[in-house]
Amino acid sequence: MRKLTKQQKDELEAIYQKFLNDEKVQKMNEIQMHRGSSCYIHSFRVAKLCVKKAARYHRYSFEDLKNVLVASILHDYYLYDWREHHELKKKHGRRHPLVACANAVRDFNIPIEVQEIIKTHMWPLTPKLYPKTKEAKLVNRMDNHIAVKEGLTFRAFKKRRHEKYLKMISHLFDE
Ligand SMILES: [Fe+2]
Ligand SMILES: [Fe+2]
Repeated sequence: MRKLTKQQKDELEAIYQKFLNDEKVQKMNEIQMHRGSSCYIHSFRVAKLCVKKAARYHRYSFEDLKNVLVASILHDYYLYDWREHHELKKKHGRRHPLVACANAVRDFNIPIEVQEIIKTHMWPLTPKLYPKTKEAKLVNRMDNHIAVKEGLTFRAFKKRRHEKYLKMISHLFDE
């Protein structure tokens, strides 16, 4: 078990808050995801879980942690609602990692390590784009985990959950 220093935690929290309050990233809140969740809520939930998991282990360097954080926030940064584009419905699952990556490069100039994590997050749906690094494998797994959880949420609780989730994602590290 490893413990992050206060300075490291502050640095990660600052990155998280920068994206959380970014106008372009907030557009993801208009895109519906799984029940009661938006693309925005989903992405920050995945980010929180990924950092929590990775921060436990020494094998993730601080640089790895930063890459995991940025990649998980932007892994679904595709910025369109596939429900509104009939022609995208079928292709969305396989196509959106590449769209998200291209958008993230355009808007945030992310490094190659982060690009790789985003591009491979839908594997095995994208057989050729498989996660090679431990960071990519982690985001791939945690994204699935959160997606399944969101899929199980009852429709009736949708509105209440949305507000609850917005509160839940307001900080990377809960006090
Ligand atoms: Fe995705
Ligand atoms: Fe996702």
